[in-house]
Amino acid sequence: MMTVKLTQKKAAGQSDNGGSSRGMMRRVNALSLNPTAISARLTAQSIAIWQLVVKSVVTSTNDIVRDYDAKGEGHGVAVMAEEQTRGRGRRGRIWHSPAGANLYCSSGWHFSGPVEALSGLSLSVGAMVAEAVMEVCGADLQLKWPNDLYAGDQKVGGVLIEMLGARDNAQSAVIGIGLNVSMSADDGALIDRPWTDLATASRRDIDRNELASAVLNQLAEGLAQIDQQGCVPWLNLWRRRDYLKGRSIVIDGSPPVAGIAAGVSDSGALLIETESGLQEVSGGEASVLEMGALR
Ligand code: BTN
Repeated sequence: MMTVKLTQKKAAGQSDNGGSSRGMMRRVNALSLNPTAISARLTAQSIAIWQLVVKSVVTSTNDIVRDYDAKGEGHGVAVMAEEQTRGRGRRGRIWHSPAGANLYCSSGWHFSGPVEALSGLSLSVGAMVAEAVMEVCGADLQLKWPNDLYAGDQKVGGVLIEMLGARDNAQSAVIGIGLNVSMSADDGALIDRPWTDLATASRRDIDRNELASAVLNQLAEGLAQIDQQGCVPWLNLWRRRDYLKGRSIVIDGSPPVAGIAAGVSDSGALLIETESGLQEVSGGEASVLEMGALR
């Protein structure tokens, strides 16, 4: 059964992020995250799976899921917050998380089977989120290996998976998703790479509650499917949105690997056509090597 926890109060500045000077005229993202509105759009499968927790301010929604997991209540908890004070991204980066502007969502899931079967999980989750975004905003996002969501040449979201280890024959994971929905230029000023938000990319006002429901519905279906069939069906969807494919790229590391991006393997590794042949890279950061581009 789904438990809705009304731990919400209005976040500071929540209805004051309109009129941004970024791109198109931005209207106020007036709707708070509302557990009742989110629940109203959940599918029967989602309702059976998620225990929805909506908070005003947290350090990181991933932290809250970890707390639930420590109490043995991690599987099926879905935590959203209006604001994160210590939102984190991949590779120790900060995930800028101003109040009332975006979607910060973390879910707990216990996967049966070996951890090796989950090497494509973060890519798969990216594909699920892209499907949810398409459904709600009509924006056809691309996916930049390994876990960035892109609109055009700008980052609009990301996925941060934290594996918590094995318990009772299950792999416990925290699946964190951040989506820029309607963020002012001031709020985004500290982001050190090209970024955009879904309101700009889709030229629409976005109802964050509708987006939250769509993400949870995709996750409910997709994670259950991964448990049964593994990640390959989702990797196939990821491949249709591959931002890097055919581009000249370099992966940082020692030594760096440079070549032409050639898709991903069935374990989610990046394939690169290099001067010495096809190489697989399973970790690192890809930068596009094009005139004027550092993405
Ligand atoms: C990245 O692109 O580096 C991943 C960003 C992930 C951000 C989300 S927001 C919800 C969850 N809580 C966090 O602290 N991080 C993830």
